[in-house]
Amino acid sequence: MTEYIVVFVTCGSKKEATVIAKKLLSEKLIACANITTDVKSLFWWKGKLDSARESLITMKTLKVNFSKVEKRVRQLHSYEVAEIIAVPIISGSRDYLKWIKGSVFFILCVLCCLIVPSEAQEMKTKKEIALPLPDLKGEMSVEESISGRRSVRAFKLQDLTPEEVSQLLWACQGITDKETGHRAAPSAGALYPLEAYVVKMDGIFHYNVENHSLEPVIEKDERKALVGAAWNQGFIEGAPMTVVLCAIRSRVTSRYGAKADMYINMEAGHAAQNLHLQAVALGLASVPVGAFDVDAIRKILDLPEDYEPVYLIPVGYPRQ
Ligand SMILES: Cc1cc2nc3c(=O)[nH]c(=O)nc-3n(C[C@H](O)[C@H](O)[C@H](O)COP(=O)(O)O)c2cc1C
Repeated sequence: MTEYIVVFVTCGSKKEATVIAKKLLSEKLIACANITTDVKSLFWWKGKLDSARESLITMKTLKVNFSKVEKRVRQLHSYEVAEIIAVPIISGSRDYLKWIKGSVFFILCVLCCLIVPSEAQEMKTKKEIALPLPDLKGEMSVEESISGRRSVRAFKLQDLTPEEVSQLLWACQGITDKETGHRAAPSAGALYPLEAYVVKMDGIFHYNVENHSLEPVIEKDERKALVGAAWNQGFIEGAPMTVVLCAIRSRVTSRYGAKADMYINMEAGHAAQNLHLQAVALGLASVPVGAFDVDAIRKILDLPEDYEPVYLIPVGYPRQ
């Protein structure tokens, strides 16, 4: 659990501590800052014992953000030598840690761009949204997830977090072997004819498998339109996210000819089932939807001609 840290910074005044905390929060370098005022500090300074009344900022963030946090504090701090130290969080409530990760999500995107400059440039032009890395260890067994899965058609208003979106898309189509590019769901001949889209409150996005990111397609809530295209299955509008699996048949027909349709449908089933089981493991629920007008969905998603929607999977928090 060294992914998360607490950073301590002492300041000469409450005002200075507040300015630093607000700046770091607005830049999403940290998830949270607590300021303790009137701290009595005793320390060695230039060969003499000294003391001061200080304010202490206690910040929670991710370890990968520490160098940026340190750099920013040093820019803003008035001290010649400022105390900027970090300690690891060895354990914590799952929800709280998830919230930390979600709150500094944006800066993770920036860091990704800094690490790989050429990719960063590409992301900038395509306005891609990097997703947090998926967790490879969950709290629920496969057996519990299988036995807990049920088609659910009533969802809470609650939106999904970037972590949940990331985890669901990874389980559905994410790359699980970087060397070969093989994915979470099997594919006949590893030809991967599926492309996943998500329809959310904030728009429609294409899942970029290679970058594990979302590419904005339409910046509008189209969930109601989805209902119309799915023969008025009204519950779809209530789901915070619907994954639309699309197939590009030519990727498979070139090798498998007449068998292509069957293989594609089998593969869509694998991908969808992974998503259903992952949803249960995250405390979410889903339903497979096969009844829809292909052309209407194609129009809503503004799909290229050779992309054919094959499955819709609304996901969200189940309404009891
Ligand atoms: C290929 C396929 C298409 C489906 N299409 C729809 C659909 O359009 N609308 C819907 O409400 N449920 C749909 N379902 C969900 C089934 O109704 C559901 O799986 C079935 O009632 C069994 O319930 P369970 O999933 O809770 O085990 C579909 C399921 C499959 C496998």
